[in-house]
Amino acid sequence: MADNPQNIPDPTPAGLQLGDQTAELVRAAFPLRLGLVEGKVALITGAARGIGEAAARLFAAEGAAVIAVDKDVAAAEAVIKEIRARGGEAMAHGADLTNEHDVEAMIRVAIDNYGRLDCAFNNAGISGRFGSFIDLPLAEWQQMIDVNLTSVFLCMKYELGVMAAQGFGAIVNASSGAGVVAAPGLPHYTAAKHGVLGITKCAAQEFAAKGVRVNAILPGTTRTPMIEGFINGDPNIEKMVSRGIGRGYLGEPSEIAEAAVWLCSDRASFVSGASLSVDGSTVNR
Ligand SMILES: NC(=O)c1ccc[n+]([C@@H]2O[C@H](COP(=O)([O-])OP(=O)(O)OC[C@H]3O[C@@H](n4cnc5c(N)ncnc54)[C@H](O)[C@@H]3O)[C@@H](O)[C@H]2O)c1
Repeated sequence: MADNPQNIPDPTPAGLQLGDQTAELVRAAFPLRLGLVEGKVALITGAARGIGEAAARLFAAEGAAVIAVDKDVAAAEAVIKEIRARGGEAMAHGADLTNEHDVEAMIRVAIDNYGRLDCAFNNAGISGRFGSFIDLPLAEWQQMIDVNLTSVFLCMKYELGVMAAQGFGAIVNASSGAGVVAAPGLPHYTAAKHGVLGITKCAAQEFAAKGVRVNAILPGTTRTPMIEGFINGDPNIEKMVSRGIGRGYLGEPSEIAEAAVWLCSDRASFVSGASLSVDGSTVNR
């Protein structure tokens, strides 16, 4: 015990050599491993279902206090009830993210309750009706841009203000494979998702030196209510959709949430301005 003057017990299980079976050693030394976002305050939009719901559950399981935002506040309440029942910390908040007053109020709720904002996953979005470019009504174009692009701009506008003043923070925006290639028959969705990547890069560049990281994820086709609405329970449509995915089957919402949590965690400290595909090898750029 010459090198251990305080007589700290050796956590190495008998028979294990240092440098060998590292994960077992770490588990033995730190049985109460901290979560990826332990102690952080995380705001998640579109948290009532799909990818946002999975993210709310995972951020909470990884140690964050979650503010679950959705226009469907009753469904968001149901999600946070389950998170709390499992010992997680979460609150729900209703907002229409196309409305600037709602977005401002949402950020105020985070600050009033927790005093800061560490992570934001701007995930809420809608899908569109397939059709020809020339048949797309202006109202549908505008609604798509409002929900899938302007809402991300509004969220970032207020999140960045808070995070820059704090001197830290991480934002993840939900784009899509349609952020880098065309989604045939969906010019409005394609435009909005390309736009999300553009404003992600602008924000990352402006705020990097202020301690704020901004990234985008590009989910592949994922089994959420958005996609289930399209598949409509038809195994042939699911097979057709799956053929376009390299690994041959749909993503699960939790697989997308994993990437969002990692990007928001300090383990991604040197990652900013990135567009991360999470799609089982669908869009290979
Ligand atoms: N599911 C996929 O295959 C897929 C693929 C690529 C990208 N994405 C993107 O991921 C994100 C989440 O998709 P999802 O499949 O989980 O969708 P979803 O439709 O299952 O859930 C979206 C949630 O966003 C909420 N929402 C919509 N408009 C809102 C608004 N104006 N204000 C507040 N909340 C609003 C809805 O109420 C809903 O709870 C979207 O941005 C989507 O474009 C999804």
